[in-house]
Order: sequence, then C-alpha cells, then structure tokens
Amino acid sequence: MITTNQSPALTWRDGSVPVATRFDDPYFSAAGGLAETRHVFLAGNDLPARLHPGFHIAELGFGTGLNLLATLIAWRAAGSPGPITYTSFEAFPLTAPDIARALSAFPEAAAAAAPFLAQWATGATSFALDGMTLKVILGDARTTLPLWPGRADAWYLDGFSPAKNPELWSDELLAEVARHTAAGGTFATYTAAGHVRRALQAAGFAVSRLPGFGRKRHMSAGILIR
Ligand SMILES: C[S@@+](CC[C@H](N)C(=O)[O-])C[C@H]1O[C@@H](n2cnc3c(N)ncnc32)[C@H](O)[C@@H]1O
Repeated sequence: MITTNQSPALTWRDGSVPVATRFDDPYFSAAGGLAETRHVFLAGNDLPARLHPGFHIAELGFGTGLNLLATLIAWRAAGSPGPITYTSFEAFPLTAPDIARALSAFPEAAAAAAPFLAQWATGATSFALDGMTLKVILGDARTTLPLWPGRADAWYLDGFSPAKNPELWSDELLAEVARHTAAGGTFATYTAAGHVRRALQAAGFAVSRLPGFGRKRHMSAGILIR
C-alpha cells in the first residue's frame, strides 16, 4: 500500500538532480530540465498561445514545481493573459528546502520561485501567484483524480517513467484524465510508451508522436476528440 503525503527520501545525482529513492528515478533530466519542460509540456500543449482567462492546466506529479514555474514564466512573457488555474496531483510532496535546492540548477526558474516557496514552506497547497491560482491536491492520484470536480484544458502527464511508476500510467487513470478534460482539451507527455499511447487513444484522445527532447526520440501529445 502506498502511504502518501510524506516527503520522499531523496538522493542527489551530481549534487543537483533529485532522485526519488522510492522510484529510483530523477525528477527531471540532468540534460535539459527547464528546456525539456518547455519542449514537452508547453509546446506539446501549444502553450502559451492557447492561454486565455479561465484556462485550466492540470498535472500528474507536482515534484519540484519546475513545470509550474516554466508555465508562470511563459504566462508572464505572453503578457499575463488573464487569470488561469494550475492544479497538480502529488502523493509525496517535497519540502521547500529540497525544492529550492533542485530549482537552483535553473537560474531562471529559481528567480521566479520565491513567492511560491514562501507559501509552500508554510504548508499551504492552494494559493495565488500573480494571476495564476495554484492548487496541489495531495494524495494518490488514483484516489484523488476520480473525485476531482474539475476539467483541464491542458494536461501535463509527468509521472516518473512508466516502468518505475506504473500507478500514474494505468489505463484506468488515463481514462480519468480524459474524463477530466474539457472539450478540445489536450495532453502532453515525455513518454511515447506504446501502452500509454494506446490507453490515451482508447480514452478518447487523438494521439500524435512528436520529436522528443534531446536524446529522447519521441514524446506524445494529443487532443480530446470524444
Ligand atoms: C517526474 S516527477 C514530477 C516532476 C514535476 N512535474 C516537476 O516539475 O518537477 C513525478 C512525480 O509524481 C509523483 N507521484 C508518483 N506516484 C504518484 C501517485 N500515485 N499519485 C500522485 N503523485 C504521484 C511523485 O511523487 C513525483 O513528484
């Protein structure tokens, strides 16, 4: 049984990349990090171009908040196009000091992180950052997502690798992702694993295989068509 809501045990690869002991997998790639987030999750969902007031992004796996900060930076660079919401599902929340250490590898993200870290350090999981409302839903996403009343316009599917974190890539959970996607909504993920792509297709997405970041040949993205 997964016991959630405890900060996870970490090791640090090369002193800067956090690796979750439980999953034996890094939170982000040493070669890229922020650039990979922009390629996979932002460009993969056609963001920031699609942002508009009320736009809702959801994420499986909050981790270090790097995807959140990349999105906040993109939202600002796009001229702060109205209030948006960012909901993330996380079972094993990192502590503020661990997040700060991880983000220090990305000066641009670290420079934007202070208001987020100040709130996170208090234990708050739901608060505003400029015009973006952040809601981190703690607990196992297999339990929390089915109960979530929201629908996202864009999903970031960012569990650890499907081989090491199959809980976040099951057919059932990906069907819940589709069920919690607005009409015309999209997803993006770094993986092109066949079973993940098939599950997303079966759930109602038209799935495309796109060039991956760096040495990864492929990634996946899609749009809800039914
Ligand atoms: C690759 S990391 C996410 C990286 C993150 N998006 C970032 O920007 O740093 C995967 C995350 O999924 C979380 N996770 C793993 N299994 C989960 C589950 N069953 N429910 C919710 N979160 C889970 C892990 O704790 C970890 O934070």
